[in-house]
Amino acid sequence: MSWTSLCDLSELEEGGGKYVEIGGFQLAVFLNKGKVYVTDNTCPHAGGSLSGGVIQDDCVVCPWHAWPFRLDNGQLRDMPGCAITTYKSRVVEPADRPKIVQANLPIF
Ligand code: FES
Repeated sequence: MSWTSLCDLSELEEGGGKYVEIGGFQLAVFLNKGKVYVTDNTCPHAGGSLSGGVIQDDCVVCPWHAWPFRLDNGQLRDMPGCAITTYKSRVVEPADRPKIVQANLPIF
């Protein structure tokens, strides 16, 4: 696992998502109630881009057919067993530059 920088915190909008492609991963980064979440970007239903979804009730709602996935654990709400991958995230604050969003990705 490796903490990997994804974007500046200032690039995120509360209640929305940002697409980040890095190290072979296609990720969606969200800011919800001041907390950052990182998930896989591809919806398991039919491939919708979750970074284009909206956040409702702590879930990202897929823009294609409105499946809601919990940001904290990736579970499809009301249907246990269907989930997207989530990644641990953190915000780091280097002394000489803006706050950076990182995810702990399974790359070495
Ligand atoms: S592609 Fe996401 S709900 Fe259908």
